[in-house]
Amino acid sequence: MQKVFINKLKDFVGQEVTLQGWLFNKRSSGKIRFVILRDGTGYVQCVFFKGNVSEEIFELADKIGQESSIIVTGKVKEDSRQVGGVEIDATGLIVIQDAKDYPITPKEHGPEFLLDNRHLWLRSKRQVAIMRIRHRIIKAIRDFFDERDFVLMDPPILTPNAVEGTSTLFETPYFDLGNAYLTQSGQLYAEAGAMAHGKVYTFGPTFRAEKSKTKRHLTEFWMCEPEVAFADLNDDMDLAESMLEYIVQTVLRERAEELKILERDTTKLEKVVRPFPRISYDEAVEILHKNGVNFEWGNDFGAPDESVIVQQFDRPVMVHRYPAEVKAFYMKRDPENPKVALAVDVLAPEGYGEIIGGSQREDSLDELLSRIKEHNLPQEVFEWYLDLRRYGTVPHAGFGIGLERTVSWICGLDHLREAIPFPRMIYRNTP
Ligand code: 4AD
Ligand code: MG
Repeated sequence: MQKVFINKLKDFVGQEVTLQGWLFNKRSSGKIRFVILRDGTGYVQCVFFKGNVSEEIFELADKIGQESSIIVTGKVKEDSRQVGGVEIDATGLIVIQDAKDYPITPKEHGPEFLLDNRHLWLRSKRQVAIMRIRHRIIKAIRDFFDERDFVLMDPPILTPNAVEGTSTLFETPYFDLGNAYLTQSGQLYAEAGAMAHGKVYTFGPTFRAEKSKTKRHLTEFWMCEPEVAFADLNDDMDLAESMLEYIVQTVLRERAEELKILERDTTKLEKVVRPFPRISYDEAVEILHKNGVNFEWGNDFGAPDESVIVQQFDRPVMVHRYPAEVKAFYMKRDPENPKVALAVDVLAPEGYGEIIGGSQREDSLDELLSRIKEHNLPQEVFEWYLDLRRYGTVPHAGFGIGLERTVSWICGLDHLREAIPFPRMIYRNTP
C-alpha cells in the first residue's frame, strides 16, 4: 500500500493509502470512532465504522491516548466539509506506541508550563503554523538576496571583540588566548566580505546578554545582515524596503492557511508595499511632541515612543539620521550635520517595534580611528577592520534584520518566545 503524506491526499481520492503520524484528537459516537491524525504536513479525520473494521481495531481507536504514534490505512474519500477536502474511511490501525497522559491537553495552560514543555508544545497546531511561517520567512530572505547576486558569507560565532557595545557580551574562556565572546553581529565580517564580493549577506545566530526582560528580547536570536559596497544610506533603505515587501507578500501568498490558524488580521499585512514612509529622527521627535510625549532630543526611542510614531502610518516606518551619540562607532556621520549618524531603524506596524537596524558605514580611516578612540575601544583588535579602510575603501552600507521580531510581527505574536523553536531568555535556557 502507498505511504502518503496528508498534504498529498487530494491526489489519491478513491485509493487505499497508508498514513503515519500521531493521534491529534479523537471522539466517538455510537458506531463510529473519529481519529484526527497529524503527520506534520497536515491533519486528517480517519473514520472507523463498527463492522468495517475488526472489533479489536474498533476498540483500539477509542483507547489510545493523545499523541500516540500510529499507522492508519484506509480509503481516501472526498469530503468538502473537512479541512483539506478529504477524510479517510479507515480499514486498519497499527499502534507503534500508545502514549498515556500527554501533558499538553486541549485545555488552557500557562506560558511557563508550556515553555517547560517546549519540546512537546512545538507539536501543537499553533506552534506548527508559526514554525512553518518562520521557515518560509527564512527562505524568502535567502531567495531575495540570492536572486540579486548576493553571496552568503558565514561570519564566526566566537569573536575577539564587541560589535554592538561591550555591556551585552557573553564571554567564554578560549584556551591560551584569554577570553572569546559570542558574536553580537556578523557585520564587521560582512564588511570584509563586501570588499571581496561587492554584495554579501550573513544569516545566523547572534547573542546579546541583554538584562532587559521584555517581550522583544532574546539572548540568542537569528539575524540576516546584508552588506553592499558602493552604497549609501538611501540605497540601504531601498534594499530594506524591497526585502520587507518581498517577505511579507511571499508569506501572505504561500502561508495563507497558517496565518488563518493564527487568526492573523492579514489586511494589515497586505498594506506592506513600497514605498514606506521615510522620516528623520528629528521629524519623529516632532511627532512625539505633537502627541504630547515628553521626549528629549538625543535619547533613543523606547517601545512606547515607537508605538506612537508607527501609529501615524499604515506600513513600516523608516526612521533615519539618529543622534550619533546613541549609535554604534562604525556609523558614518552625516556630512551635512555631524551630530547625526547615517543610520536607519525600520519600525514595524502594530507596535512590533524595531525589526531592522542599519547604516552607512564610516569609510574614512581617520574618522574611524577617532570613533574608536571616542568609544574607548581597543584599537589593536580592530586593526583588521581598519585595513578595510586602508586598502580600497569605498562608501558602503548594510543592515541587520532580526528574524524573531519579523516572525513575531508577521504572525501577530505577543512575545518573541513563540517565534523561535527553543527560546533563550535571561530566566530560561531549557529545554
Ligand atoms: O540594531 P542592531 O543591534 O544592529 C546590528 O546588530 C547591526 N550590526 C546590523 C547591521 O547594520 N548589520 O540589531 C539588528 C536587529 C534589530 O533591529 C532587531 O530586529 C534584532 O536585530 N535584535 C534582536 N532581536 C531579538 N532579541 C534581541 N535581544 C535583539 N537585539 C537586536
Ligand atoms: Mg538597533
